[in-house]
Amino acid sequence: MYAGSTETRSPPVTVPMLRQFKLEGRKISALTAYDASFAKLADDADVDVILVGDSLGMVIHGRRSTLAVTVDDIIYHGKAVARGSRRTLRIADMPYASYPDNSTAFRNGARLISEGECAMVKLEGAGPVIEITRYLVDREVPVCAHLGLTPQSVLRLGGYKVQGRSESAANTLREAARALQDAGAEMLVLECVPSPLAASIQSELEIPVIGIGAGAGCDGQILVCYDVIGISSGRRPRFVKNFLLGREAVGDAFRQYVLDVREGRFPMAEHEYAE
Ligand code: KIV
Repeated sequence: MYAGSTETRSPPVTVPMLRQFKLEGRKISALTAYDASFAKLADDADVDVILVGDSLGMVIHGRRSTLAVTVDDIIYHGKAVARGSRRTLRIADMPYASYPDNSTAFRNGARLISEGECAMVKLEGAGPVIEITRYLVDREVPVCAHLGLTPQSVLRLGGYKVQGRSESAANTLREAARALQDAGAEMLVLECVPSPLAASIQSELEIPVIGIGAGAGCDGQILVCYDVIGISSGRRPRFVKNFLLGREAVGDAFRQYVLDVREGRFPMAEHEYAE
């Protein structure tokens, strides 16, 4: 089903290309995917990055948080996504409690790369995660950092809330972003932070900053694939847009998302947190 295409397509996205996209000012489009069919639709739509996100705990398994997702879950879905994608760079989420120390993080991160068939792993937070990032990168496990609203911290945060609103929280976030870049992270996901803060972090870093609820000033955007086609249940966050409205096929919705990200039509002010 997926082999044998003779189409001329853009070359596969590699880890070093992410920085190159930023240098060129070319916006990066990213979506989550959890299976081969959605991965193929994203790949065909020219999405740059697929995240095998631990959001699968909520949107696939129907749980109220991501906390029950395991490394084996991500590997299972990563293998399926790999069969559907050809050009997109695949990132695997390191689930809750899978990176408590350097050696456990390396064991799990390396499994996500070798068994889960991804090119990079994503870790939430800073603090001890900065040194863990350095340890992984030094051992050839490329890392994407994730700051702002980090869903694995939902118990400590007391809910899914916009982060970095006070001056001191904004400064802490800025310093964490810089430290993660210095530790070797190749990309940063910023979730639910005020747009001016995200834009200033974007301008201070050499690595691309991918926003979700972080405004148009980021180097790219990521959304959960089900949100892009309006099939998520529960309260719809402000940053979500249903690209299937007025279109007939999921592939068309994904293609429109990519175009709107690249051409600066998404996100708009209505999808952002001003402060
Ligand atoms: O798991 C996930 O889907 C994520 C994105 C929302 C960034 O981490």
